[in-house]
Amino acid sequence: VAGALLCAGAQKTNKDESKVQPYTLPSAFTTPDGKTVRTVKQWQKQRAYLLKLFADNEYGRMPGAPAGMHYRVDSVDRNALDGAAVRSDVSVFLGPSDGAPVMHVLLYLPTHVAGKVPVFVGLNFAVVPPLSADAATRKREEDRGPFAQLIAAGYGVATAWYGDLEADNPDGWKTGVRSTLAGPLHIQPQEWATLGVWAWGMSRIQDYLLTLPEVDTHRIIVVGHSRIGKAALWAGANDIRFAMVVLNDSGEGGAALARRDFGETTQILNTAFPHWFVARFRDFNNNAAAMPMDQHELLSLIAPRALYVASASDDWWSDPKGEFLSAQEAGKVYALYGLKGVTGSFPPPLDTSIGDHVGYHLRTGQHDMMPFDWSQYVAFANRNLKPTGSI
Ligand code: GCU
Repeated sequence: VAGALLCAGAQKTNKDESKVQPYTLPSAFTTPDGKTVRTVKQWQKQRAYLLKLFADNEYGRMPGAPAGMHYRVDSVDRNALDGAAVRSDVSVFLGPSDGAPVMHVLLYLPTHVAGKVPVFVGLNFAVVPPLSADAATRKREEDRGPFAQLIAAGYGVATAWYGDLEADNPDGWKTGVRSTLAGPLHIQPQEWATLGVWAWGMSRIQDYLLTLPEVDTHRIIVVGHSRIGKAALWAGANDIRFAMVVLNDSGEGGAALARRDFGETTQILNTAFPHWFVARFRDFNNNAAAMPMDQHELLSLIAPRALYVASASDDWWSDPKGEFLSAQEAGKVYALYGLKGVTGSFPPPLDTSIGDHVGYHLRTGQHDMMPFDWSQYVAFANRNLKPTGSI
């Protein structure tokens, strides 16, 4: 899905750094009664408070898994990617009967790895062809996706098409899980929104992975690009079973600071994509300063788990500097855990991964997810995630 095609006509967008107005970020450490968090214990309470702020004002409430969820492996290819992987097509039934809404998960697991494997989980725009696709189409899509690269690095990949959960348009909720599962999940369609539904789907993929003995349940990584990066952030904030969170060019409504007026704005988001966020988020159109929170605090909710934020140098729409500053600010919560985040000033050296437990890079080029990006995520995961059972 290309970058700024939905430019929302007449609304102004600033792409001039000298015109960025001063702003004051709320501190993740300030409690509702004005105290300052100083310990991990106090942070745990504060974390719940912040998570609710984001639910109430931006993404909506996050329901749990539906009762009776079950799985069916539809096909297995033990010789995928020229023998490097086992590929399975799995139907994830989001309810007790086989007539329940289904998410089709495509899973690749490496064949050459001894022991349990780490897995990247993400939704995709179109990488996974429908199950009916012929062999040639599948081969082409396999070659295009990051599958071979991740498999070669010893990582599995599990993905589903985002449209299986909700179509990406203002009417999508009428036929997606917000409507079909409103009863079983005990949530009204307007209590959450499209990004929340996609995030919820990522957790359901994780539910499935947790049933597989081949998978290292302590090394499941949620990853997303752009709008799916925004959803991956919300998934990672809510679902602490994800050991690592990767946000590729997630921009406004993702890693980027809402208060920094550069590139896409809250108003543009809410106008071009009114279905992504709950109605309350529109109160902050042209008024980011009124938000009781900002996106660095959402990044903070990933702590102490591994977090990677990535930007691209030509992706001004996503505000690379706003993503960097937000990641850097989140490092204050990591510091509470004795972990190091991102230091230095923007821009860091191009095409270079920086940061310790919070990672960041600014890749040369456009809004996209490239082999370079994936190789940084793998290296970061290798550094930060310990195999289950290792010392
Ligand atoms: C649009 C949108 C962004 C989004 C992007 C994408 O550009 O304005 O917020 O991240 O699409 O999903 O590619």
